[in-house]
Amino acid sequence: MADWWDSIPAKQEEMAVAVEEAAAILDECIRERFGSARPVAAVTMGSGLGGLAEEFDDPLLVSYESVPGWPPPTVVGHAGEAVLGTLDGAPAIGISGRVHLYEGGDPARTVFYVRVLDALGVPALFLSNAAGAIREGFHPGELMLITDHINLTGRSPLFGPIFGDEPRFPDMSVAYDRELRAAVAQKAAELGIPLHQGVYVAVHGPSYETPAEIRMLRTIGADAVGMSTVPEVIAARAAGLRCVAVSCLTNYAAGVTDQPLDHEEVLATTKIVQADFQRLVAASVATLAG
Ligand code: HPA
Repeated sequence: MADWWDSIPAKQEEMAVAVEEAAAILDECIRERFGSARPVAAVTMGSGLGGLAEEFDDPLLVSYESVPGWPPPTVVGHAGEAVLGTLDGAPAIGISGRVHLYEGGDPARTVFYVRVLDALGVPALFLSNAAGAIREGFHPGELMLITDHINLTGRSPLFGPIFGDEPRFPDMSVAYDRELRAAVAQKAAELGIPLHQGVYVAVHGPSYETPAEIRMLRTIGADAVGMSTVPEVIAARAAGLRCVAVSCLTNYAAGVTDQPLDHEEVLATTKIVQADFQRLVAASVATLAG
């Protein structure tokens, strides 16, 4: 009987093949949509922030279902398609719908798309998410540029044998690219969109935090809390993609007020801030085109 350990390298190999196959399919779509131009960035749309898909000009929609191996998202508020189009003239790929760790399976499922983007040679990843506001003075309906993160998910997408050319111990000292952060902050100022800056802590979920957990998270330096983004940033940095990320603060974190938390509230708040968020992302991605 094979040792359980023996199946892990085989799984890695299967994943590498799936990533290559998915990249080949998307590459054809990229050529169809952009000709010889290449996407300057991909944009991951967080919960309730899928409206950004409408900012893409002449979008070519590629359903995840049409790409073998691409895991479908299961959460309300997340579509399941890649959007190929231009944002303020810059060729870009929208990732409309992501898979969270709490949806089950291997964390590699969560970062499958990041590895496909890397195989396609996409140089930068702009992530967004919905998050609970922890820091005093941060309120629902506001945006926060992520300066750094704390990974409290208890998982890593890099667990197991090394994938492709990834380093075994990727450096995370500047996970969120300084230049890209400055570009986004500048765009926000130009557009008159208030933008906080702070540390995002990722937890596993899917239950929201307890007030005691939020007190702990505040103590260890977290300004906002959510259940996504960090696995993707870890995989993206391991692959060498530049990252920048914005949180849409959708609610006060547990215990900050007496309000119970629920996903409907999260989605309702994203609707309020969506217009600012979309303008900021579209304008920022255009700056990446140089
Ligand atoms: N906690 C965790 N994830 C979240 C929250 C929260 O308060 N709001 C939106 N995503």
